[in-house]
Formats: sequence, C-alpha cells, structure tokens
Amino acid sequence: MSKSSISNSVIRRLPRYHRFLGDLEANGYTRISSRELAEKMGLTASQIRQDFNCFGEFGQQGYGYNVKELRGEIGKILGLDKRAPMILLGAGNLGRALASHIDFVNRGFELIGIFDSNPDLFGIKIGELEIHDIAQLESFCEKHHPVAAILCIPKAGAEEEADRLIRCGVRAFWNFTHFDLRISHSDAAVENVHLGDSLTTLSYQLNSIDGGADSSEEEDTEE
Ligand code: NAI
Repeated sequence: MSKSSISNSVIRRLPRYHRFLGDLEANGYTRISSRELAEKMGLTASQIRQDFNCFGEFGQQGYGYNVKELRGEIGKILGLDKRAPMILLGAGNLGRALASHIDFVNRGFELIGIFDSNPDLFGIKIGELEIHDIAQLESFCEKHHPVAAILCIPKAGAEEEADRLIRCGVRAFWNFTHFDLRISHSDAAVENVHLGDSLTTLSYQLNSIDGGADSSEEEDTEE
C-alpha cells in the first residue's frame, strides 16, 4: 500500500508503535507477536495486525514481527530517516523549553535557527543556536531554506508570521499559539498543539473514575 493511502488514524498511532518498538529493541527483543505487543500497548492484536498490514508483509505466521525491521519501516513512513530543517519563532518560556529538550534529529527534523522580536534576547544562545532578530527571517530563509517552523509566539501574531513563513518556503508548522493554522493554511502541514486539551481530557478521565461516566469509546490508550 502506498504511503499516501494509509489512513490518518493509523498514521496517528505510528509514533507510539515506533516508541514501543524502540523500547523493545533496547531491551533485546528481536521479534514479537501481535498478541504480546497488543498486551504491552493496551491495544488488541487484530488492531495491530490491521495497522501493520497497511504498509507491508512484516508479520509471519508463528514468528511474529521482526522488531528492528518493523521499527525501521515505521520510521521511514514517518520520515524519521530525514532531517528537515526547522526554525523556532518565539524564544520565551515555551520556545526555550522545546529548543532545549526536544530530540529533533530522531524525529525527522533539525533545528537550525531561533528567532524572537525582543532585542534583549538577540545573541543569547540556546544550546548551540543564537537567538536572531525576527527581522532577519527572510535573509536567513533565503540562505538556509527551512521547510518547517515551530510557533511559540503570542496568538495575535501567529497568522501574520505564518503567512510570512509560507512566503519564505516553510510548509510545515508545529503550532503552539492556539491560533488554528489548519483552517487558514489548509495547504500546509500543521500540527496544532494544545497541552491544555490533554489536561482537560485527564479531568474527564478523573471524573469518569469518580462519577462513573462512560470513558470506553476511544480506541487509543496513550501512555
Ligand atoms: P513568552 O511570553 O514567554 O514567549 C513568547 C516570545 O515570543 C517572547 O520572547 C516574545 O518576545 C516573542 N515574540 C512575540 N512576537 C513575536 C514575533 N512576531 N516573532 C518572533 N518572536 C515573537 O510566552 P510562552 O509562555 O513561551 O508562550 C508562547 C506561546 O505559546 C503563547 O502563544 C502561549 O499562549 C502558547 N502556549 C501554548 C501552549 C500549548 O499547549 N499550545 C502551552 C503554553 C503556551
């Protein structure tokens, strides 16, 4: 099956499979059955077989999956064998935390530039990278061709800066601003991230335990 025909819901599960298979590999597993993997991940074996059948013949009857091969294939589908050049806009609390703690290279990206509008921050280093004046965005992009951007700026500036980035050739956004870029930039790849939504979901789950509301309808059990 071609990459483009894999459903979005399967794609959304792939990072988790990749992470689990990485842990298994690190713990010396060379193969694993769909049943065993399902138990470890809180999924069903048939769900796992269905998902993996989308992109090839990895399982063998009575043998299970080759952990390394399967992880490698999932990594390729996710583009983790590449290093897409990425920049960060907004070197405030969140931007600094992401720039310092995210393992970009093992997730298909390389952080190559950090920008802010606050002159007090220009020249300060986060890891190896200096914070640049946002006024230098265009000249930087002309030279280094980033294709992806992280937006950690206030919501009010998000649309304008996203338009500017698109003009500079950026076509993927990891967007923390709470401005919904998926609607205004439907041709770009957009991941809108709302940590608060995750916390709200936890509130629902807590209240389900306490109040007995039905929380069984979603198939994904995140860890
Ligand atoms: P902050 O105020 O510490 O940092 C924002 C930085 O952006 C500042 O350094 C500021 O100078 C810079 N900035 C403002 N306009 C800019 C522009 N046009 N170009 C470049 N830099 C610019 O704020 P914090 O806490 O780091 O939050 C950043 C954004 O992320 C906010 O929009 C906030 O609401 C959002 N946020 C989102 C979360 C989520 O789960 N999606 C979680 C936490 C914050």
